[in-house]
Amino acid sequence: MSIGVFDSGVGGLTVHHRLVERFPRADFVYLADQANAPYGGRPGEEIVDLTRAGCMRLFDEGCSLVVLACNTAASVALRRLQQTWLPGYRRELGRPVNILGIVVPTIEAATGLPWEHEAERRGEKVEKLDILGVFSTPATAASRVYEIEIDKRRQDVAVFSEPCPELARMIEAGAAREALAEVISGHVKALTARIGRAPDRAILGCTHYEIVADLFRAALPAGTPLIRQPEATADALERYLARHPELDPGQDALRRFLTTGAPGAQNGLVETFWGSPLSFEPA
Ligand code: DGL
Repeated sequence: MSIGVFDSGVGGLTVHHRLVERFPRADFVYLADQANAPYGGRPGEEIVDLTRAGCMRLFDEGCSLVVLACNTAASVALRRLQQTWLPGYRRELGRPVNILGIVVPTIEAATGLPWEHEAERRGEKVEKLDILGVFSTPATAASRVYEIEIDKRRQDVAVFSEPCPELARMIEAGAAREALAEVISGHVKALTARIGRAPDRAILGCTHYEIVADLFRAALPAGTPLIRQPEATADALERYLARHPELDPGQDALRRFLTTGAPGAQNGLVETFWGSPLSFEPA
């Protein structure tokens, strides 16, 4: 058995990289749905269908657990799939399988609270408001998942989302850093103007943005803490696997990379943060 990691493209490799470091002996299969990327401007139903297809492909490869290393898929599709599709599919497969997202671990890291903790401190006087900026795809921003879930848990945190419609596509296409820096700086300025001041902390709420985290750092006021999704997801997976010994992550250090797109095209971009080219197979 192995752990599947799913993203619309190469952004999820930032999460995969951290998971591999954390679980060096586990088996991993990465699936990039590059034929259908970017997801961020698609209607919700399409995102649900594409995410379901990706999960099925990874379960077919023998994965016991799929990590949706894609904020768009996790915020739009995960709850729907867990409630309406997964229980039946699990029975069909006849073995324990599950899907985890990237949003819950990020919210746990941003609030400093476990997911189960909701609204206990309602009514407390808020001394100082902590402003959290979330940069994401339009679909993630439209889901309002970060606003809704963080508001349930922390009254002293105010979330402001900034949808970045072109950014994931540009990163996936290997756009020049100057062009990316300009777009990122425009989004930081727009968010700052909307809030009335710069955010105190920020979530790069699209895995592609992690690849250019340094450009976000340069555009935000010096020292603005970034909540790191790869780290938060690795922490959450470690806790999850400890609670679920029935989900076998394997132990042969298998690394497979599948794409629904054209194998090979992703290597230049991947190398910049991976350190070496990866060999993708057709999915
Ligand atoms: N990397 C994905 C995310 O975390 C999606 C980017 C896209 O396909 O638009 O949201």
